[in-house]
Amino acid sequence: MPEKISFNSIDELISGRRTIHEFKSGPVPPLEKIKHAIHLARWAPNHYLTEPWHFYLLGPETARAIAELNAELVRVKHGEKAAQIKLDRWSKIPGWLVLTCNKSDDPRRAQEDYAACCCAAQNLFLYLCNEGIGMKWTTGDVIRDKRFYDLLWVDPSVETVVGLFWYGYPEEVPTTTRKPIEQIMVELP
Ligand SMILES: Cc1cc2nc3c(=O)[nH]c(=O)nc-3n(C[C@H](O)[C@H](O)[C@H](O)COP(=O)(O)O)c2cc1C
Repeated sequence: MPEKISFNSIDELISGRRTIHEFKSGPVPPLEKIKHAIHLARWAPNHYLTEPWHFYLLGPETARAIAELNAELVRVKHGEKAAQIKLDRWSKIPGWLVLTCNKSDDPRRAQEDYAACCCAAQNLFLYLCNEGIGMKWTTGDVIRDKRFYDLLWVDPSVETVVGLFWYGYPEEVPTTTRKPIEQIMVELP
């Protein structure tokens, strides 16, 4: 079992959570943990309690079909070699889930519902990170392709894809920075 990174405080968890790009090969984190993360994710704030989110847990067959669809998109833009490299890389991703948000004709509702889904995504991230499970939120071209929706059996007039999320035990935890707080904070009288 991969060693668990432990966080001593919520400060450490929030600032220590990183987007994981490289996952260990070997065991996929237990589905029960992912289901528990979803259970917690839905406690995110959401205006008018719309609960606009849907979580799709993808099995290997669907994951493979998405990897192939993505390779097809890469092939059209960048050729066969690039497509094969992408397919190899995506074939090694341990866990896959997709978060969608209900669509709305009301732009304000659509914005607030999307915001709520992003809060839910952060809940997912933080819980899994605390459990030693890394995650990456991806929004590449593939998530906007109609065939992606078809693979999930999702009607694009009803739901919009917020992101494709990969998860697994981190092979490498990157470092990153944030701007000094003075650059982003304004204090008013
Ligand atoms: C809406 C959204 C979409 C993202 N899409 C991608 C993506 O397509 N590819 C990628 O490498 N990272 C993606 N990321 C991850 C960001 O690049 C990452 O959060 C950022 O570099 C900060 O790193 P950190 O998450 O470790 O703090 C996305 C993040 C968000 C919030």
